[in-house]
Order: sequence, then structure tokens, then C-alpha cells
Amino acid sequence: MAYLELQDLTKHFTKRAGLFGGERQIVKAVDGVSLDIEKGEILGLVGESGCGKSTLSRLIMQLITPTAGSVVLEGERLADLPKAEIRQRRRDFQMIFQDPYSSLNPRMTIYSTLVEAIATRHPNILQDKSAAENAVSELMERVGLDPRFIRKYPHEFSGGQRQRIAIARALGPEPKLVLADEPVSALDVSIQSQILNLLRQLSEELGLTMIFISHDLSVVRYIADRIAVMEKGKIVELQQAEALFDSPSSDCAKMLLDAIPQIRA
Ligand SMILES: Nc1ncnc2c1ncn2[C@@H]1O[C@H](COP(=O)(O)OP(=O)(O)O)[C@@H](O)[C@H]1O
Ligand SMILES: [Mg+2]
Repeated sequence: MAYLELQDLTKHFTKRAGLFGGERQIVKAVDGVSLDIEKGEILGLVGESGCGKSTLSRLIMQLITPTAGSVVLEGERLADLPKAEIRQRRRDFQMIFQDPYSSLNPRMTIYSTLVEAIATRHPNILQDKSAAENAVSELMERVGLDPRFIRKYPHEFSGGQRQRIAIARALGPEPKLVLADEPVSALDVSIQSQILNLLRQLSEELGLTMIFISHDLSVVRYIADRIAVMEKGKIVELQQAEALFDSPSSDCAKMLLDAIPQIRA
């Protein structure tokens, strides 16, 4: 039994097409995805824009209901759990997005944002100010932020630092699975590798299981143990990261490989 199993996960959207919206068109955003993910593994999910990566991540997060198929964590089919239990389990799944600026509340200090995240797992911390400050400082240090900035607001940080805040917030609830959807795509190349190194290090230190999504195969190669290639809602190739680079089998993987600039200054 794998740690996380995606069993024939499917999501079809119905779109009204035609001038008067009379025709109905079915978009097969995710079309029968089956995948096993091991504990502590970083699985890279790569594919062109529009191939269904974000929809797949929202299915795994239980944010949308699948048309068919299921998500099984440690042998439990999540959709079978009672609603209240699913709410509890949501803490186990955290996301990191492309744009930390729009995902962080601009009116909340780093302290407020992070203490809220920690409190979802440890509500008692709200009653003990010094314990809360210690926990937040510790979390900041873990992601490479100076705890002296605890009272600052998101706009006072650079893009890379803001992504560190978003990562800290994702770690606050002590998740089992982190889903990172294009987490470095908005960052300068020099900052990208710092954030990738941080995610890799956190995964090792905390034994985190991670699904790392990107349209850029060179970014995924840098961090992933295995890489799944997605095309039109389906997984068309799944290999160890290095093996995929040495001998890609799908046309889609070959195309993504060709899109990587060969010479990097
Ligand atoms: N809520 C939705 N309603 C209708 N179509 C959607 C919805 N969300 C995504 N899609 C469509 O599903 C396909 C996959 O989208 P998405 O999962 O966002 O791809 P990716 O993240 O790989 O760029 C696209 O064709 C997109 O237009
Ligand atoms: Mg997307």
C-alpha cells in the first residue's frame, strides 16, 4: 500500500460553447489519473499550461469533487470520511502557490499569519503569548527568515522572502503532504534555486511528502525524485527524474526537454 494513492482520478468540466451558450462542451481537465506516492517522496508533476495540473492538485486537496475516482491516504479513501473529519484532515494537506503576494493577507503581520497557521494544530497556543512568539520565531528560522521581522507586513519583503513566508504558513499546521503549484514560477532565476533548495531541505528534515508542480522541466528536475508528465488530463510518462532526462519516452516529455535552454550563463 502506497502512502498516497490517486485512483483513476477524473474531473470533467462542462462548458457552454456557441454564440448563445446552447451547446455544451466537456473539458476533460483530469482524465483518469492513477499514481502512487511514497512517504517522504518529492513527486514532480510537469506539463504544458492547461494540461490539468492545478485541477489535479485541487482534487488531491479535496477542494473540488471528482467526476470519478478517489484519493486514498494511508489506506483511507478521503471522500468516505464524514464532513467534520475531512475538515480536520485538511490540515494534513497544505498548498504553496505561485504568487505569495495574492495568497498572503496584506493586512496581517507575519506573526498573525503564522500564529493562525500554527493554531489550526495547536489552538492552546493562542492563550500563551510567549509560547506563540517562540513558535513563530522557530518557524521563521526554519524557512530562513530573521525572527526580528516578526511584526512586519508582506509588502515589506521581497518576492523570495514572501514565498518563504508562504512556505512557513504551509508548514504551520504540520502537514503530511505539501502541494506546491508553480511555487517559483514568478521568481527571478537566482531566487528560484534558493527556494528549491529550501523545499528540498524541508522535505528531508521533516519527512514531508511533496507534489511539486511546474510547467518547467528544468525546475522540476532540480527538486523531484520522480517526475510525472501530464498531457491533456492524463499522465503520459512516469520515471525517476534522471532517467526521464536521459531517455524520455513520450513526445510530451521530449518537447518539454527541448524547451529548456541548453546554455545557461
Ligand atoms: N473551474 C473550471 N471550469 C471549467 N474549466 C476549467 C476549470 N478549471 C480548469 N478548467 C479547464 O481545465 C483545463 C486544465 O486547467 P488547469 O488544471 O488549470 O491546467 P494547468 O494548471 O496545467 O495549467 C483547462 O482547459 C482549463 O481551462
Ligand atoms: Mg496551473
